[in-house]
Amino acid sequence: MSSRSAATSAAKPAAPGVLVILGASGDLTKRLLMPALLNLACDRLLPDGFAVVGMGRDVMTSEEFRERQRGDIRTFCTRGTVDADRWSWLESRLHYMAGEFDDVDAFARLKRLVDDAGAEVGAGGNTLLYLAISPDFFALVNRQLDAAGFTRMEGSRRIIVEKPFGRDLDSARALNQSLLAHWPEEEIYRIDHYLGKETVQNLLAFRLANGMFAPLWNGRHIDHIQISATETVGVETRGGYYDRTGVVRDMIQNHLLQMMAYVCMEPPASLDPAAVRDAKSELLASVRQLEEGDVADACVRGQYGAGKKADGSAAVAYRAEPAVDPQSNTETFAAIRLHIDSDRFQGMPVYLRSGKSLWKRGTEIVVQFRPDTAATTGVDPAGGAAEGNLLVFHIQPFQGVEIRMQAKRPGPLFTLQRAGMRFDYADAFDAARGTGYEVLLYSALNGDPTLFSRTDFVETAWEIVQPVLDAWAATPATDFPNYVAGTWGPRAASDLLARDGRHWHEILNRDVLARTAFFAEAPALVLNNLLPAFRPLAAEAGEGIVAAGAHDDEMYFVCRGELEAIGGDGSRLGVLREGEFFGEMAVLFDQPRAATVRAITPCDLLVLDGDEFRRIVNDFPAVAAEFRRIAEGRRSGEGPSETGLADP
Ligand code: BG6
Repeated sequence: MSSRSAATSAAKPAAPGVLVILGASGDLTKRLLMPALLNLACDRLLPDGFAVVGMGRDVMTSEEFRERQRGDIRTFCTRGTVDADRWSWLESRLHYMAGEFDDVDAFARLKRLVDDAGAEVGAGGNTLLYLAISPDFFALVNRQLDAAGFTRMEGSRRIIVEKPFGRDLDSARALNQSLLAHWPEEEIYRIDHYLGKETVQNLLAFRLANGMFAPLWNGRHIDHIQISATETVGVETRGGYYDRTGVVRDMIQNHLLQMMAYVCMEPPASLDPAAVRDAKSELLASVRQLEEGDVADACVRGQYGAGKKADGSAAVAYRAEPAVDPQSNTETFAAIRLHIDSDRFQGMPVYLRSGKSLWKRGTEIVVQFRPDTAATTGVDPAGGAAEGNLLVFHIQPFQGVEIRMQAKRPGPLFTLQRAGMRFDYADAFDAARGTGYEVLLYSALNGDPTLFSRTDFVETAWEIVQPVLDAWAATPATDFPNYVAGTWGPRAASDLLARDGRHWHEILNRDVLARTAFFAEAPALVLNNLLPAFRPLAAEAGEGIVAAGAHDDEMYFVCRGELEAIGGDGSRLGVLREGEFFGEMAVLFDQPRAATVRAITPCDLLVLDGDEFRRIVNDFPAVAAEFRRIAEGRRSGEGPSETGLADP
């Protein structure tokens, strides 16, 4: 039995209760809540005394609601096929009533329906209310729930509140007041779905259960931390919401600050919810307050223009997205430098970055350790060791933890090479894929608030980003759109770190590498071995990367920018862009470079040294042969090529 199923079978069904979903005819119910409930039902983590009562605007009966969910679960189920037996168990417990939020009678009827549904299954009078509604209705709905008697029900009472939790500090405070007027803090469960992710929860496990890192976890040993959450999707159907929101409110104020809190907080004395939540809030309180005047130096904003999606199809500019203002000043990308003034970190910088329509989907946290220069002097003439070790938390889509280190290369000389130690969730656990909402619903049914945000956390998080919002509202961007959809975001984000003598660690993952024609067929194991071998290289516009005729031995992956390949006669053979790969001919066939490659715009590249590549793939002879076959195909113009060029 896998470790995960052993752990799951040890967990008991949650406490009995009725889950009341306000806004049940909306997207959240079918996309996330029902699949999560079904997963819990399959893992026998829902109690017999469980029922769901939905209320929404769509007029339908309970039977029609069940039918609708039965259809939708086939689309949104996360486990391949729907377990018919467990679904019918769950479906028989679903109830629905139509109602408007301003209708007092509707809430009285809702109360009766909840009482009846609860009595039928033996829910013990416990109620878990879920506000899957726009925050504009929070105050009204809370008044109605209170008047209908939900705040005075006999059993346990809890209310789950979805984000966005306010749109700035003032509105968040007002929202908190309107909730606290009806519910005590202990009954309020503010959701941040990132806390439902296994890899985010693992940050806490990593900190608390792996003592070897504890002595290093401070500003003396850690130079800085980078937290990136990048998405390839644009705003899709959510233009109306997004245009009022922007990435700082949508991602940074909540998801990124939650992750930062886990990584940087003091280890709590216990896993008691109050201890964990105190530690997180204290960490946020120790973030140096930005002044509006600091924003220009510490923050970068971006908005995407037209470009290409990851699959090569055309992507429209943000301003041309449905329901977006054609003159919109809303940021779809932001990078922010914060400093943590805790005793532990003494002003250490943390760089946060998030955006839509970027080249890669991936959430990673990179902890950059300081190099031990005394120990490495003379050991590594190439200087790689002077970069210091990296600890990378892969949050998604790859789930794992990785240490980037230096190792001695096999052979008679004492030379170093980058190497990686990697823990991959998929190798260690056979966890069924979930929505992330399973653990949140399970915890809320059991009255465990650890994974939910307390008033102080939410308000301090707003305090941190408020100067950024204010500064950007006061000075509309003059350069929007300032990045091409499908690229790495605005150049200024690189400059932000370059001014500090640092650079973003662009973490390649298997998905990204496998999108290039050269690596598309390579097995995951080979890709895993290659990933840590890439090192970053920044090039200025006009800078040459390879020269025709040169006998060098490196391959290149383009993260950002455009390069041109120039033939022997000086003519342009083609343009290389983000996500493309070149240079393998020299490495595989020991040939001089066939063309010169020069940066047209500033570029960020990842370089793979030929020796490292050969050493890694030589352990996999069949794969090595396949690489040569692909490269031959590219050379003859028959094989896959990103550029349509033979490899330069
Ligand atoms: C949501 C944001 O909170 O998180 C979305 O509103 C964003 O805009 C999403 O796409 C990202 O979540 P995940 O789990 O896909 O990283």
